[in-house]
Amino acid sequence: MREVVDLAERVSTTASNVLITGESGAGKDVLASFIHLMSPRAQAPFVKIDCATLPGELLEAELFGFERGAFTGATEAKPGRLEAADNGTIVLDEIAHLSVDAQAKLLRVIEEREFERLGGRKTLKLDARLIALTNVDLDEAVRRQAFRADLFYRLNVVRIHVPPLREREDDLLQLVKHFVSQYSAKHGRKVVGIAAPALAILRAYEFPGNARELANILERAVIVARGKRIEVEDLPPSVSAAVRTGSAKPMSLAQLEAVYIADILASTGGNKTETARILGISRKNLYEKIARYELKA
Ligand SMILES: Nc1ncnc2c1ncn2[C@@H]1O[C@H](COP(=O)(O)OP(=O)(O)OP(=O)(O)O)[C@@H](O)[C@H]1O
Ligand SMILES: [Mg+2]
Repeated sequence: MREVVDLAERVSTTASNVLITGESGAGKDVLASFIHLMSPRAQAPFVKIDCATLPGELLEAELFGFERGAFTGATEAKPGRLEAADNGTIVLDEIAHLSVDAQAKLLRVIEEREFERLGGRKTLKLDARLIALTNVDLDEAVRRQAFRADLFYRLNVVRIHVPPLREREDDLLQLVKHFVSQYSAKHGRKVVGIAAPALAILRAYEFPGNARELANILERAVIVARGKRIEVEDLPPSVSAAVRTGSAKPMSLAQLEAVYIADILASTGGNKTETARILGISRKNLYEKIARYELKA
């Protein structure tokens, strides 16, 4: 992630187009905002358009704007997002969904830095940085001829790949702290940290939904937590289950032991004698492990 942020910082000072790739929830939008905020255009508009939700013609109307009478229903002229983004940054989310027509028009805009509103004659200048986002493999879409190669090259001047959360081991703890304090404040809670076994579970979990999923898990955990720390029992059962059934990253023996002891403690309602009996260890040994792993006792 440090390399990602470093590259983003370097590109932010230029006006270059940027292509940001990464799985859903990895943080492409967040990175696009970061590039805008770090850029000399930070005071100018940051405009986003989602290419996946708007059907072809509506998308073009949104992007380029239209003059009165350009199509049925165009009772008034309306500036498009490209105009709104004047001097600023325009983010094209889910760029792979752009229709073939829109691709051709966008290519022209990028090459000539000029465009017209739909049904308009006046030529307008484009002075916005373009950031395109995609969670599909655009190279592959180009090979399938679903995406224009020439447009792809124009967008792909600088490509930044946001890695999936499961590969960002150093980043996970930072994000956990960030979300815990954010949601603690939002919900008026005093949760300040996370217990070691709960963190071990998050470290092992694969996060198919990436940072978005982590945020959801921690918002819920902050709401249900009884104490100042997030415990294993505050995590969604599906997450702990994925880790226990081995459909996650491998854990160290110590992490596994901590999670397992926390489980048994929870199932006995915190009864030390019963827990020690089930685990086949002495009460003294159990207390040592509780202290070592900072378990809730
Ligand atoms: N580095 C980060 N710091 C803080 N929050 C983050 C970070 N990365 C992602 N998030 C949060 O995770 C959620 C998903 O991030 P984002 O919308 O940027 O993902 P995305 O890659 O654009 O996903 P999608 O392809 O589904 O649109 C957001 O709520 C965002 O605030
Ligand atoms: Mg997004």
